[in-house]
Amino acid sequence: MPKTSTEDRAWIAEAIRRVDADANRSADTHLHVVPIPVPGIELYLKDESVHPTGSLKHRLARSLFLYALCNGWIGPGATVIEASSGSTAVSEAYFARLIELPFVAVMPSTTSCEKIALIEFYGGTCHLVDDPGTVYKEAQRLAHECGGHYMDQFTYAERATDWRGNNNIAESIYEQMQLEPHPCPAWIVVGAGTGGTSATIGRYVRYRRLDTRVAVADPENSAFYAGWESDRSDVTTDKPSRIEGIGRMRIEGSFVGGVIDDMVLVPDAASIAAARWISHILGRPVGGSTGTNIWASLRLIGEMQSAGEEGSLVTLLCDGGERYLHTYYDDSWLEAMGLDIAPYAAALEEFARTGSLPVVS
Ligand SMILES: Cc1ncc(COP(=O)(O)O)c(C=O)c1O
Repeated sequence: MPKTSTEDRAWIAEAIRRVDADANRSADTHLHVVPIPVPGIELYLKDESVHPTGSLKHRLARSLFLYALCNGWIGPGATVIEASSGSTAVSEAYFARLIELPFVAVMPSTTSCEKIALIEFYGGTCHLVDDPGTVYKEAQRLAHECGGHYMDQFTYAERATDWRGNNNIAESIYEQMQLEPHPCPAWIVVGAGTGGTSATIGRYVRYRRLDTRVAVADPENSAFYAGWESDRSDVTTDKPSRIEGIGRMRIEGSFVGGVIDDMVLVPDAASIAAARWISHILGRPVGGSTGTNIWASLRLIGEMQSAGEEGSLVTLLCDGGERYLHTYYDDSWLEAMGLDIAPYAAALEEFARTGSLPVVS
């Protein structure tokens, strides 16, 4: 990056002021209690869908823009480019517009039309690729071609987010749990796309010397579980995840296995059944990755019960289901995908009655 001129420094300072002012105008996200028939155990949902751009990625996008601005990687007129499954691109388009920069999102052509419309609503441009594995190279190529900046969430998510505090998602959870029966959760359960959220929470828990264990819920076709279990970073898969936002075909740079205490594999049909189940309880639709989190959380609650353990468990509501009306909430899409959610929906109904989630074979 060439030497920064005085004008550029002034532009960067104003850009940072705008990003900080946006944070200052925003309220923190809610923590909902999920009613479950399990004495001595409480389940909570951290609702990240209430961010201005509708997902947990609002926090990450803000951190990535501040990181790039403070590194001198973006200046006046620079085009910002990102490789994304959609949610991050929606949030980055919002911040690019805030500081008046062009934004291009490189995404798989299967990305939901609702997300594409949202990126364009915030003034972004969508560059779709047929092979999801090529999003990184294509974003890099576009950045090189136009002299822009490839934000690269998969590499920088874990570095750009302040894991010691600074109102990160972990600090917010512990503050909101203070008056609960079990203020220090036994488990925090999240999914992994970049791995940034689990890295931030895992580091925070260790930094604050808390007893909480961190679990990652992983969908089908994801490399994370096998990579974590074998402690290998070169694991890949040949098919993309069907649960938008989580599960990757390779171990991403921001996935920090060392701060994850356990991982739970969740079938896609279970994720979607659980997303519909919790939507019914909340009275509004949630995204697929929230369903993955819920199913994994109920499995861990079952383990706590078997161990005679009492305590609380916190998981994430990552984004709203309005973005998936043509997929997870569309029975013909499920059929086309060969996904039968009925056995998992029945298991969840039994959990709601008895507090025990049966094994689905
Ligand atoms: C809807 C949704 N849920 C969960 C995640 C996972 O978050 P992270 O990238 O911090 O691992 C993402 C990431 O893109 C997402 O879009």
